[in-house]
Amino acid sequence: MVTELRRTIEEMPISQIREIANDAIGLDDMIPLWFGEPDIATPEFICNAGIEAMKAGRTFYTPNRGVPELRDAISTYTAQLYNIPMDMNRITVTASGMSGIMISNQLLVEPGTNVVCPVPLWPNIRGTIDVLGGEFRPVPLRLINDSWKLDLDQLFQSVDQQTRAIFINSPNNPTGWIMSSEQQHAVLGFCRERGLWLIADEVYARIVYGMKHAPSFLEHADPEDRLIIINSFSKPWAMTGWRLGWLITPKRFGKTLEMMNEFNFAGAATFTQIAGITALTHGEPFLADQIRRYENARNLVYDRFARNPKITMGWPEGAFYAFFSVSGMTNGLAFCRNLVQEARVGLVPGTTFAAPEDGWLRLCFANSLETLNTAIDRLEEHLDK
Ligand SMILES: Cc1ncc(COP(=O)(O)O)c(C=O)c1O
Repeated sequence: MVTELRRTIEEMPISQIREIANDAIGLDDMIPLWFGEPDIATPEFICNAGIEAMKAGRTFYTPNRGVPELRDAISTYTAQLYNIPMDMNRITVTASGMSGIMISNQLLVEPGTNVVCPVPLWPNIRGTIDVLGGEFRPVPLRLINDSWKLDLDQLFQSVDQQTRAIFINSPNNPTGWIMSSEQQHAVLGFCRERGLWLIADEVYARIVYGMKHAPSFLEHADPEDRLIIINSFSKPWAMTGWRLGWLITPKRFGKTLEMMNEFNFAGAATFTQIAGITALTHGEPFLADQIRRYENARNLVYDRFARNPKITMGWPEGAFYAFFSVSGMTNGLAFCRNLVQEARVGLVPGTTFAAPEDGWLRLCFANSLETLNTAIDRLEEHLDK
């Protein structure tokens, strides 16, 4: 049968996160912990940099790969953070981490190819592979005692002749898993051997506890390796609404990325890019404060869930999510819809993240301790009914 739109598009399911959020429209006293963003607005010093840029007339198109000052600031930031050389010609500014994901997959994915991805995983990554007509090939992380683990043999065995890339999101949304430096080294080696691309979504690289940054594939790679790093201003500097991110690639793809940016969004917003420079150069104290808040929040949620015999939760080493299972719960979507109506708490079912089995939920803990305590009180009351 002829479909009105491309079949792939017509067959795509709508986001369960949106479905649940839509259910809650008009409900009083909701505690929404479904979206993955900080509960506070962008700090004033970053906003002011954007406002000043607008006032100074930075309202025109920029070069497709971003204003040189920002690309330079990103390369300096990256070089200092990981203590590696970083050529600014490897940097491409994108209009969000999301568009960085789309562009990376547009470079590689077409019908008949697949991308191997450890799951659970943020659903938009799968969404881009689906839109492009490729196959999303999940490999499950396993919760062993308290920590999430990836079996590398299983990952490598999932690769076949049609695999174009391995896509790793570490620190991971939703589990908080962080791939160890040793595993990164092994995965990069495997990709080199097999001529595969490695796409690394490192947007939570700075949302980590007890360390300055998560291990990065950049620390192992040569500049010309088939490696794409996706990063974003959204999470570390509370800039989700600004839509600004960046890619790091081998520099031989500069012209290609110029074209991909042109056809996707023709450059990120100019004053947003200028504000990004301030975030990178003056944002460390703000980031350190946020990490302290999230760390307290993580400890609170973990301690409370650890005391509840119905709940099992892994220890999130990074990002700002609690991913947990509830014993006896078999339909996460139905549970979350019910929870919205009866307890006024907004969570997301694990199946949204391609979790291998139902019964899991995600809660975003980038919130005040007071809000989190109330939300958990309500959740526990609901579970005891
Ligand atoms: C794993 C992951 N990658 C990328 C993004 C995209 O962030 P943004 O498009 O706001 O830069 C998100 C947002 O939730 C995410 O969780």
